[in-house]
Amino acid sequence: MAEEEVILKAEGLTKEFRGFVAVKNVDLRVRRHTIHALIGPNGAGKTTCFNLLTHFLTPTAGQIHFKGRNITGSSPAAIARMGLARSFQISAVFPHLSVRENVRVALQRKLGNSFHFWRSERVLNQLDSRAMELVTAVGLAAFAEQQAVDLPYGRKRALEIATTLALDPEMMLLDEPMAGLGQEDIKRIAALIRTVARDRTVLMVEHNMSVVADLSDTITVLARGEVLAEGPYATVSKDPAVVEAYVGTGHG
Ligand SMILES: Nc1ncnc2c1ncn2[C@@H]1O[C@H](COP(=O)(O)OP(=O)(O)O)[C@@H](O)[C@H]1O
Ligand SMILES: [Mg+2]
Repeated sequence: MAEEEVILKAEGLTKEFRGFVAVKNVDLRVRRHTIHALIGPNGAGKTTCFNLLTHFLTPTAGQIHFKGRNITGSSPAAIARMGLARSFQISAVFPHLSVRENVRVALQRKLGNSFHFWRSERVLNQLDSRAMELVTAVGLAAFAEQQAVDLPYGRKRALEIATTLALDPEMMLLDEPMAGLGQEDIKRIAALIRTVARDRTVLMVEHNMSVVADLSDTITVLARGEVLAEGPYATVSKDPAVVEAYVGTGHG
């Protein structure tokens, strides 16, 4: 893969927890404008890896580059400003604000608190119309005036994606976007991820194999903290080492 095609690169990524190596020497290259999935059996190190990439954890060793810049050790806020955003968990949504207001708050956050010009009515109206665009884009127009707390679970997921999109990231990191969703919501969120990825890069940790097969351009398989295989679903799913790693885990 040509260097300029790589938007996110991890080299030798390692995380130890009191002597236990949860992520070991992981090399990862995510190509611009692709959907890349990180999969693996339970305990493989997916969440740890995700937290390292989103800088919620500091690596014991290794480096992370985003758009050619070394971002190892940067704060989550700093990397978000550079265009690498992690989807906010539902807990980050304000439960008693409406869907539209939640997205507007995320847009305001992007503008920054130090400039209070968004308090002017004109700017607020602009933010409101941008918020409605995003709300509509994630299929929540009919829910715009509902309080977030009253949304069905799958719709909360869509709201989470809308608040992340409000930051206008070049790359989005999604942690198990389908977790806890029913079949209908899975279809809807999968379609949303595909739309979002048209002009962005998406890296997701996901357990649902049919979603991974359907959406991913590239899959990296982790097992025991190490990269076991990488490639498109057709190749990776037939890899004997991958099949072996999943045997008896109840996954895949
Ligand atoms: N904070 C922590 N302290 C100690 N061990 C941890 C910690 N976080 C994860 N681990 C261990 O690291 C391994 C990988 O965990 P995790 O990244 O959550 O795997 P996955 O998300 O693939 O299921 C597991 O054995 C887990 O018990
Ligand atoms: Mg996990």
